Amino acid sequence: VLSDRRHPVGFVPTMGALHRGHLALAERAARENKAVVVSIFVNPTQFNNPQDLALYPHTLDQDIKLLATLLPLGTPIWVYAPNAEDLYDQTVVARDFNFQGLDAVFEGADRPGHFNGVGTVVSLLWKAVPAQRVYFGEKDYQQLCVVQALKRMENKDLEIIPCPIVRESNGLAMSSRNERLTKTQRERAGWIYQTLQEVARQGSASAPNRLGPDELRNLVAKKAQEAPDFQIAYFDIVEEGGVKRVDHWSAAGRYRALIAVVFHGVRLIDNIAL
Ligand code: PAF
Repeated sequence: VLSDRRHPVGFVPTMGALHRGHLALAERAARENKAVVVSIFVNPTQFNNPQDLALYPHTLDQDIKLLATLLPLGTPIWVYAPNAEDLYDQTVVARDFNFQGLDAVFEGADRPGHFNGVGTVVSLLWKAVPAQRVYFGEKDYQQLCVVQALKRMENKDLEIIPCPIVRESNGLAMSSRNERLTKTQRERAGWIYQTLQEVARQGSASAPNRLGPDELRNLVAKKAQEAPDFQIAYFDIVEEGGVKRVDHWSAAGRYRALIAVVFHGVRLIDNIAL
């Protein structure tokens, strides 16, 4: 693949089981670059739960068919689907990064070692794929922060493009894990986004009686009591761009609410800018 400033390549790293969220990343990459590479690799080192890894769907043929629907845009799309030995060489283990605490909370606290695995594979992938722009979804907000830190640590000359969350019609953020829910559960899981929307309404700087961060935490705790089928793994308000939790609003501050729930045994995450 010819790859330089005049022939930019857009890279979309994925673990396959592609859905409309991934397709939106690939479509944007196709519109903004001369070629697109989509990697499909279920990275073992980022799974702290072996059952999660075992349950992860492998749907390469279907993924390729889905990506082919973008070919009318006229941009060539390459699929890079290495096996673990190709990508990792001898030993399939995660490196130990210092992400300055970014990986110590939220997803990192609930899934020890997860971000070391993500950092390792992303570093290997962007060595293997010559690209000028890399596209990541904002659903994995903390992953996006970690990848930005990795780019700085490795001094990479590439642009990281965060892309908005794609949602199902009831607001549920697109995720391959949604497939593990029944149709009725999937409908019900719209509760997560409805809750975030209420947080955004009541916590936005333009709200007539703006709630503070603690009041928003209480609001979500109360809503969760009324919806016992959702177990809250965490809900919090952080400064935009990082994971520092806030206790007071500041005039120029920008904030994001993060949530993870376990719903019928499936862990779902989402977030919203306030
Ligand atoms: O977001 C994902 O699908 C994965 O964490 C990534 C970035 C492809 C690394 O395996």
